[in-house]
Amino acid sequence: MEPWSRGPVLGTWPGAFLPLGPMSEELILGLETSCDETAAAVVRGGRRLLASRVHSQVDLHAAFGGVVPELASRDHLAKLLPTVDAVLSDAGVELCDIDCIAVTAGPGLIGALLVGVQTAKGLCAASSSVLVAVNHLEGHLSAINLEKEEIEPPFVGVVVSGGHSSIFRVEAGQPPLYRLLGRTLDDAAGEAFDKVARLLGLPYPGGRAIEELAIGGDAAAHAFPRAMRGRGLNLSFSGLKTSVRQHVEKNGVPVGSGLSDLCASVQEAIVDSLVEKSLAAVKAANLDRLLLSGGVAANGRLREKMARSARAAGVRLFVPSMGLCTDNAAMIAAAAHPRYLAGQVDGDDLEPDPAWRLG
Ligand code: KG4
Ligand code: ZN
Repeated sequence: MEPWSRGPVLGTWPGAFLPLGPMSEELILGLETSCDETAAAVVRGGRRLLASRVHSQVDLHAAFGGVVPELASRDHLAKLLPTVDAVLSDAGVELCDIDCIAVTAGPGLIGALLVGVQTAKGLCAASSSVLVAVNHLEGHLSAINLEKEEIEPPFVGVVVSGGHSSIFRVEAGQPPLYRLLGRTLDDAAGEAFDKVARLLGLPYPGGRAIEELAIGGDAAAHAFPRAMRGRGLNLSFSGLKTSVRQHVEKNGVPVGSGLSDLCASVQEAIVDSLVEKSLAAVKAANLDRLLLSGGVAANGRLREKMARSARAAGVRLFVPSMGLCTDNAAMIAAAAHPRYLAGQVDGDDLEPDPAWRLG
């Protein structure tokens, strides 16, 4: 099985990261249920990943072309505790060894978040662990802490996922400080991939399907819009979706190489916008380090083009490995670590906030 399988089977990460010099030894159990992945992970000292499992609900939602919130909550309820048991066993620890339980408390689907938050409270009550609420975007920005290479703040952190496309300035602090520099004004980058995929009759989630079809396609075949070009640090992808819809209404869904060309052109438009705005943010912030994270950061073309453009601009680019870019609970545990050390813990009155904004 692949270390980060995202099929219906529970994917496991065997815990290959080694500690980087002296570090604290707190054991944090992370829980993530904000959307359509049920995930749990055990992280030691905020940086050493001991065990991580991600149960994807993709098959459950596939027939509907997107996530059905009610189905998501029910499935989280069925899968979360078995996933927790599995990661504790993978890590060779017991619940009573856990110092802190970190849970995504927003943003996300309210029913899905509730399952994670209520489970975390129950597990805290059943053990001596403390509770730390984590913002999902802070989780994505913290995934890099689980990699060998360290990124020193201040830096520009870009989160590109199914629900978000946001650019932050990240300052040193315990916990770090986040300032929003730019964000999408309409669809998120992953949402654009997903909506275009639906227009083309491709499976959900669309990003990976479009990336696969784009291989060998001509990215210059269609000149889809790069919205907001040269205008600030905000992004917009709804015009791209409309262009594709109009193209399909006029010409039908292409097949064969025509479909590959269309997918490559769509992917290129999204990638170009993300690369341009990310590097513009680094320049505007007068920094030289850039972090790219979130599910869309699993896109090979984005990783490649961002790396090339960053190199040309003298910017050091950091991107977590694939399994840490897409939703997982290890990043939630990593984000909780500085909060735990700073004593920023939550009580059993914690309520999830589906619209929780970072920065
Ligand atoms: O971060 P994530 O797992 O969940 C959210 O927080 O939303 O991101 C999921 C998004 C989906 O929209 C999916 O289409 C996109 O990430 N995605 C990709 C790829 N893999 C996942 N987009 C482009 N290329 C990929 N390879
Ligand atoms: Zn996410």
